[in-house]
Amino acid sequence: KAQRIIGISGSLRKDSFNRHVLAAATEFTETDVTLHTYDLAAIPLFNGDLEDGGDPASVADFKRAIAESDGLFIVTPEYHHGMPGVLKNAIDWAGSDANHNVLKDMPAAMIGASPTMFGTAFSQQQLKQSLVAAGASVMQQPSVFIAHANKKIDENGVITNEDTKAMITSSLRAFSEWIDHKQT
Ligand code: FNR
Repeated sequence: KAQRIIGISGSLRKDSFNRHVLAAATEFTETDVTLHTYDLAAIPLFNGDLEDGGDPASVADFKRAIAESDGLFIVTPEYHHGMPGVLKNAIDWAGSDANHNVLKDMPAAMIGASPTMFGTAFSQQQLKQSLVAAGASVMQQPSVFIAHANKKIDENGVITNEDTKAMITSSLRAFSEWIDHKQT
Protein backbone atom coordinates (compact mmCIF):
# COMPACT_ATOMS: atom_id res chain seq x y z
CA LYS A 1 0.00 0.00 0.00
CA ALA A 2 1.27 3.48 -0.87
CA GLN A 3 2.45 5.49 2.10
CA ARG A 4 2.48 9.18 2.74
CA ILE A 5 5.00 10.37 5.30
CA ILE A 6 5.29 13.92 6.60
CA GLY A 7 8.85 15.09 7.25
CA ILE A 8 9.75 18.00 9.50
CA SER A 9 13.05 19.65 10.37
CA GLY A 10 13.65 20.94 13.89
CA SER A 11 15.87 23.66 12.44
CA LEU A 12 14.39 26.60 10.53
CA ARG A 13 17.77 27.79 9.26
CA LYS A 14 18.09 27.90 5.46
CA ASP A 15 21.47 26.19 5.44
CA SER A 16 20.61 23.80 8.22
CA PHE A 17 22.35 20.43 8.14
CA ASN A 18 19.09 18.88 9.27
CA ARG A 19 17.09 20.59 6.53
CA HIS A 20 19.63 19.22 4.03
CA VAL A 21 19.27 15.74 5.48
CA LEU A 22 15.48 15.98 5.20
CA ALA A 23 15.79 17.19 1.59
CA ALA A 24 18.08 14.26 0.83
CA ALA A 25 15.58 11.90 2.43
CA THR A 26 12.85 13.05 0.04
CA GLU A 27 15.04 12.02 -2.90
CA PHE A 28 15.77 8.61 -1.48
CA THR A 29 12.17 7.54 -0.97
CA GLU A 30 10.92 4.53 -2.82
CA THR A 31 8.17 4.68 -5.41
CA ASP A 32 5.36 3.64 -3.09
CA VAL A 33 6.51 5.99 -0.32
CA THR A 34 6.25 9.75 -0.59
CA LEU A 35 7.90 12.02 1.94
CA HIS A 36 6.33 15.47 2.08
CA THR A 37 8.29 18.09 3.95
CA TYR A 38 6.43 20.53 6.15
CA ASP A 39 8.00 23.78 7.35
CA LEU A 40 7.43 24.71 10.98
CA ALA A 41 8.28 28.39 10.50
CA ALA A 42 4.65 29.56 10.52
CA ILE A 43 3.68 27.82 13.77
CA PRO A 44 3.13 30.38 16.56
CA LEU A 45 4.28 29.87 20.14
CA PHE A 46 1.93 27.56 21.97
CA ASN A 47 -0.74 29.36 23.94
CA GLY A 48 -3.80 27.49 25.16
CA ASP A 49 -5.92 30.62 24.75
CA LEU A 50 -5.35 30.40 20.99
CA GLU A 51 -7.06 26.99 20.94
CA ASP A 52 -10.41 28.40 21.99
CA GLY A 53 -12.88 28.05 19.13
CA GLY A 54 -10.43 26.04 17.00
CA ASP A 55 -6.71 26.14 16.27
CA PRO A 56 -5.01 29.08 14.52
CA ALA A 57 -4.99 28.51 10.74
CA SER A 58 -1.29 27.61 10.52
CA VAL A 59 -1.65 25.09 13.34
CA ALA A 60 -4.80 23.60 11.86
CA ASP A 61 -2.97 23.19 8.54
CA PHE A 62 -0.02 21.51 10.24
CA LYS A 63 -2.26 19.17 12.21
CA ARG A 64 -4.24 18.28 9.09
CA ALA A 65 -0.98 17.43 7.30
CA ILE A 66 -0.03 15.07 10.11
CA ALA A 67 -3.50 13.51 10.34
CA GLU A 68 -3.47 12.80 6.59
CA SER A 69 -0.11 11.01 6.87
CA ASP A 70 0.80 7.43 7.68
CA GLY A 71 3.84 8.51 9.65
CA LEU A 72 5.84 11.44 10.99
CA PHE A 73 9.56 11.57 10.19
CA ILE A 74 11.53 14.12 12.20
CA VAL A 75 15.04 15.37 11.47
CA THR A 76 16.32 17.26 14.47
CA PRO A 77 19.35 19.21 15.60
CA GLU A 78 20.39 19.44 19.25
CA TYR A 79 20.44 22.65 21.26
CA HIS A 80 21.86 22.62 24.78
CA HIS A 81 21.55 18.87 25.03
CA GLY A 82 17.88 18.96 24.18
CA MET A 83 15.50 19.25 21.26
CA PRO A 84 14.98 22.71 19.70
CA GLY A 85 12.17 24.79 21.16
CA VAL A 86 10.73 24.99 17.65
CA LEU A 87 10.18 21.25 17.64
CA LYS A 88 8.87 20.98 21.21
CA ASN A 89 6.46 23.80 20.42
CA ALA A 90 5.17 21.99 17.33
CA ILE A 91 4.67 18.79 19.35
CA ASP A 92 2.80 20.70 22.06
CA TRP A 93 0.35 21.99 19.46
CA ALA A 94 -0.01 18.73 17.56
CA GLY A 95 -0.40 16.65 20.70
CA SER A 96 -2.84 18.93 22.46
CA ASP A 97 -6.19 17.37 23.31
CA ALA A 98 -8.02 20.71 23.26
CA ASN A 99 -9.01 20.30 19.63
CA HIS A 100 -7.67 17.01 18.33
CA ASN A 101 -4.43 15.25 19.31
CA VAL A 102 -3.07 14.17 15.93
CA LEU A 103 -0.04 12.48 17.50
CA LYS A 104 -2.18 9.85 19.22
CA ASP A 105 -1.15 6.46 17.77
CA MET A 106 0.80 8.23 14.99
CA PRO A 107 3.89 6.25 13.91
CA ALA A 108 6.97 8.46 14.37
CA ALA A 109 10.67 8.11 13.67
CA MET A 110 13.60 10.46 14.02
CA ILE A 111 17.14 11.07 12.89
CA GLY A 112 19.43 14.02 13.54
CA ALA A 113 22.63 15.70 12.47
CA SER A 114 25.10 17.77 14.44
CA PRO A 115 28.70 18.89 14.01
CA THR A 116 29.64 17.41 17.39
CA MET A 117 30.63 13.84 18.13
CA PHE A 118 27.33 12.82 19.78
CA GLY A 119 25.17 13.61 16.76
CA THR A 120 21.93 14.67 18.52
CA ALA A 121 21.72 11.69 20.93
CA PHE A 122 20.46 13.86 23.81
CA SER A 123 18.03 15.72 21.62
CA GLN A 124 16.54 12.50 20.25
CA GLN A 125 16.15 11.04 23.72
CA GLN A 126 14.11 14.04 24.78
CA LEU A 127 12.12 14.05 21.56
CA LYS A 128 11.18 10.39 22.05
CA GLN A 129 9.92 11.11 25.55
CA SER A 130 7.69 13.94 24.40
CA LEU A 131 6.31 11.98 21.46
CA VAL A 132 5.49 9.04 23.72
CA ALA A 133 3.86 11.40 26.21
CA ALA A 134 1.66 12.73 23.40
CA GLY A 135 0.60 9.17 22.53
CA ALA A 136 2.70 8.66 19.39
CA SER A 137 4.11 5.27 18.54
CA VAL A 138 7.87 5.76 18.26
CA MET A 139 10.16 3.47 16.27
CA GLN A 140 13.10 2.55 18.50
CA GLN A 141 15.52 1.05 15.99
CA PRO A 142 17.66 1.81 14.06
CA SER A 143 19.08 4.84 15.88
CA VAL A 144 20.59 7.30 13.45
CA PHE A 145 22.99 9.91 14.80
CA ILE A 146 24.82 11.88 12.13
CA ALA A 147 27.84 13.11 14.07
CA HIS A 148 30.47 15.49 12.60
CA ALA A 149 27.84 16.60 10.08
CA ASN A 150 30.08 19.45 8.90
CA LYS A 151 32.40 16.83 7.40
CA LYS A 152 29.60 14.86 5.72
CA ILE A 153 27.46 17.61 4.21
CA ASP A 154 29.05 20.22 1.95
CA GLU A 155 28.30 23.95 1.70
CA ASN A 156 25.72 23.29 -1.04
CA GLY A 157 23.82 20.91 1.19
CA VAL A 158 24.99 17.82 -0.67
CA ILE A 159 25.54 14.72 1.46
CA THR A 160 29.07 13.79 0.44
CA ASN A 161 29.50 10.85 2.80
CA GLU A 162 28.24 7.52 1.39
CA ASP A 163 27.65 5.94 4.79
CA THR A 164 25.51 8.90 5.78
CA LYS A 165 23.44 8.59 2.61
CA ALA A 166 22.97 4.90 3.33
CA MET A 167 21.94 5.63 6.92
CA ILE A 168 19.29 8.11 5.79
CA THR A 169 17.91 5.66 3.23
CA SER A 170 17.89 2.73 5.60
CA SER A 171 16.17 4.67 8.35
CA LEU A 172 13.35 5.66 6.00
CA ARG A 173 13.07 2.13 4.66
CA ALA A 174 12.97 0.75 8.20
CA PHE A 175 10.29 3.29 9.13
CA SER A 176 8.17 2.42 6.10
CA GLU A 177 8.43 -1.32 6.83
CA TRP A 178 7.69 -0.73 10.50
CA ILE A 179 4.52 1.22 9.62
CA ASP A 180 3.43 -1.60 7.29
CA HIS A 181 4.07 -4.17 9.97
CA LYS A 182 1.93 -2.25 12.46
CA GLN A 183 -0.95 -2.08 10.03
CA THR A 184 -1.11 -5.80 9.28
C1 FNR B 1 24.02 24.20 19.40
N1 FNR B 1 24.74 23.10 18.92
C2 FNR B 1 24.78 21.94 19.65
N2 FNR B 1 25.23 20.77 19.09
C3 FNR B 1 25.21 19.62 19.80
O1 FNR B 1 25.56 18.57 19.29
N3 FNR B 1 24.80 19.62 21.11
C4 FNR B 1 24.34 20.74 21.72
O2 FNR B 1 23.95 20.67 22.88
C5 FNR B 1 24.33 21.95 20.99
N4 FNR B 1 23.85 23.12 21.54
C6 FNR B 1 23.58 24.20 20.73
C7 FNR B 1 22.85 25.27 21.21
C8 FNR B 1 22.50 26.32 20.37
C9 FNR B 1 21.66 27.45 20.89
C10 FNR B 1 22.91 26.31 19.03
C11 FNR B 1 22.50 27.41 18.08
C12 FNR B 1 23.67 25.28 18.57
C13 FNR B 1 25.35 23.15 17.59
C14 FNR B 1 24.36 22.67 16.55
O3 FNR B 1 24.43 21.26 16.45
C15 FNR B 1 24.71 23.29 15.21
O4 FNR B 1 24.52 24.70 15.29
C16 FNR B 1 23.90 22.71 14.08
O5 FNR B 1 24.40 23.21 12.86
C17 FNR B 1 22.42 23.05 14.22
O6 FNR B 1 21.65 22.30 13.33
P1 FNR B 1 21.24 22.85 11.89
O7 FNR B 1 20.63 24.20 12.07
O8 FNR B 1 22.52 22.92 11.09
O9 FNR B 1 20.31 21.82 11.36
